[in-house]
Amino acid sequence: MAMLEGKVAFITGAASGIGESTARRFAREGAHVVLADLKAEPLERVQRDIESLGGQATGVVCDVTDAASVQAAFAAAMERCGRLDIVFANAGIAGVWAPLEDLQPAEWDRTLETNLRGVFLTLHFAIPHLRATGGGSVIITSSISGNRTYAQPGAAAYSTSKAGQVALMKMAALELARYDIRVNAVCPGTIPTNIGQNMETRNTQEVDLPEIREGEGNPALHGGIGQPRDVANTCLFLASDLSEHVSGVEIYVDGGESLLR
Ligand SMILES: NC(=O)c1ccc[n+]([C@@H]2O[C@H](COP(=O)([O-])OP(=O)(O)OC[C@H]3O[C@@H](n4cnc5c(N)ncnc54)[C@H](O)[C@@H]3O)[C@@H](O)[C@H]2O)c1
Repeated sequence: MAMLEGKVAFITGAASGIGESTARRFAREGAHVVLADLKAEPLERVQRDIESLGGQATGVVCDVTDAASVQAAFAAAMERCGRLDIVFANAGIAGVWAPLEDLQPAEWDRTLETNLRGVFLTLHFAIPHLRATGGGSVIITSSISGNRTYAQPGAAAYSTSKAGQVALMKMAALELARYDIRVNAVCPGTIPTNIGQNMETRNTQEVDLPEIREGEGNPALHGGIGQPRDVANTCLFLASDLSEHVSGVEIYVDGGESLLR
């Protein structure tokens, strides 16, 4: 039997990269995936692809920084699917990487609003639906950044948002265990996706830090470079009953690369 048969999974940032790959994986395991993303066109493409392979998918345009938008997305998911079992709070941006005195307050806010407030809002509006189901699994995409890796010049806002996500995950795991809701995080290392497209790097050479290079010569698995499916497979474990006694943990999906930093 498929691992997620009969389950409904709500996935943010599902139109690209890690979210897309996880949506496809969950759909192959029998879940009805609700694809939430800012971008309507790629969202429709992913939905069509999943359906053409015999999976069940519903696309909903949603901005995770906007409370009303997130609430409406869950309402649409419930109307379409009638239940909620799995939440993958994954949408995120790299934002602006710059020295602290150069990084503008609005740039800091945008990164924190998307990555940290976005996860809070997703969790906040998911809880009543997960409680109504009688439990479920929440997975947050954090990062090695801010948790095990700090030698990334100019990444203060991004790293802070990623560290905050893990703190939120642990608070939520304790608070929600009484409802049989598990909360965990995946912390990817380098994964080729579209995240670089919305990233701006400014004057980071002024933050003079040694850099460990990925790729050739890097002793971590696969030169320290993973694929979206590696994260998707880890999320499948966390979403499924195989992890029914696992809550409050972050799992590094980086081939061991962050141990070098
Ligand atoms: N790619 C990596 O190397 C890497 C490493 C560690 C952590 N991560 C994390 O993985 C997550 C997914 O990123 P990815 O690498 O797949 O990037 P990606 O850019 O390929 O996908 C991110 C998706 O999130 C969506 N999104 C952005 N802002 C949104 C918003 N306000 N509301 C709704 N959707 C929004 C985008 O439209 C996009 O479809 C992020 O949280 C990122 O920080 C990525």
